[in-house]
Amino acid sequence: MKTFKIGVIGAGTMGIGIAQLAAQSGHEVILFDEMEAAMQAAQKKLQEVCNKLVEKSKLTTQEAVAIMGRIYFVNQLQAFESCHLIIEAIVENLQIKKSLYSKLEPIISPECILASNTSSLSISALAAACNNPSRVIGLHFFNPVPLMPLVEIIPAVQTNRIHVDALQSLMESWSKWPVVAKDTPGFIVNRIARPYYSEAIRIYEEGFADFASIDYAMTSVYGFKMGPFALMDFIGNDINYAVTHSVWESCFYESRYKPSFTQRNLVAANWLGKKTGKGYYDYSNELPGPNIKDPELIKNIAWRILVMLINEAYDALYYKLASYQDIEAAMTKGVNYPKGLLSWGEEIGKQHCIDTMNRLYLNYKEERYRVSIGLTNHVY
Ligand SMILES: NC(=O)c1ccc[n+]([C@@H]2O[C@H](COP(=O)([O-])OP(=O)(O)OC[C@H]3O[C@@H](n4cnc5c(N)ncnc54)[C@H](O)[C@@H]3O)[C@@H](O)[C@H]2O)c1
Repeated sequence: MKTFKIGVIGAGTMGIGIAQLAAQSGHEVILFDEMEAAMQAAQKKLQEVCNKLVEKSKLTTQEAVAIMGRIYFVNQLQAFESCHLIIEAIVENLQIKKSLYSKLEPIISPECILASNTSSLSISALAAACNNPSRVIGLHFFNPVPLMPLVEIIPAVQTNRIHVDALQSLMESWSKWPVVAKDTPGFIVNRIARPYYSEAIRIYEEGFADFASIDYAMTSVYGFKMGPFALMDFIGNDINYAVTHSVWESCFYESRYKPSFTQRNLVAANWLGKKTGKGYYDYSNELPGPNIKDPELIKNIAWRILVMLINEAYDALYYKLASYQDIEAAMTKGVNYPKGLLSWGEEIGKQHCIDTMNRLYLNYKEERYRVSIGLTNHVY
């Protein structure tokens, strides 16, 4: 396998995971963070991870030593001058990322690809900070990086398409599952998954069910690994709310993505979920079981959330956010859904999905429930 010099900027949660993955795949890695403390923590974390992999017999001692030996912890950007690819994983702030790119560009080689791990920013806006915007591309990993197979590759309008092909091959050689997404808010996963959270909250806000019953509906009826409220508490309500808010805002306030008062108030109260001990659930007590015992009601709740997800996936397909195969892979490999939403819709019957959406729309008369043209007009 051809090896490259990979630069990673930002030694936080994602940067550490990306550095580990690249070094484990045989590449030399240059790792930089502006905070000295973050660099020290990264070095310690990477060493601990390698030790654990040796203990579990996933690596030999020699392999672990070689992996650590391939990671160079540097304290200046000059060290990136001979990198073939730089993956930026710094704080999620457009101005700070742009300022980093303009400092980097005079240092790096003309051939170097500049990739961003941003979850929510426009890649085209990031590319605009560079003299050579055609080298800028999104490369969105999922947390934890070494374990989650999916990577979204997002060309900006300015990106040279050869970089898409190059990154697809490279990610496959790192045993990842690359999918290509349009540069639109939330890319594939963070866009299509929105109804999993928002429809669940809506059902709660309307007083139909408690958190535990809605969670139980999704896990027992359809086999989702975690119900929406348990998952939001796991992700952190601050992060989940910020993603929802950002997708809603950057989709020009599309009503389907509107954030909820319920989650806003949890964030305001610092009830962020597991990390603060309290969110939708109180983790200092035994977690409650579902209040609802009626299996028909449980099924209806689960179906209302699933149909909204299927509708969202068909909308993404219709507007060519990604190919059919990539949308299917994104939701199964990026967020562990039990099935791809498009084929799930076909299996259940698209007409049944359309009928449910139309019924919801008639009831509520809200744009949020409009059936996607992607479901009604399945001609591509
Ligand atoms: N955490 C996730 O689950 C996740 C998932 C996918 C994508 N992302 C994206 O990855 C990026 C990083 O997220 P994270 O969770 O690893 O953040 P983090 O806060 O854990 O780490 C960010 C690191 O960047 C460093 N940094 C900030 N500004 C810098 C600069 N100008 N130069 C060098 N270093 C700088 C900080 O010191 C910090 O160590 C963000 O764009 C985020 O949206 C995060």
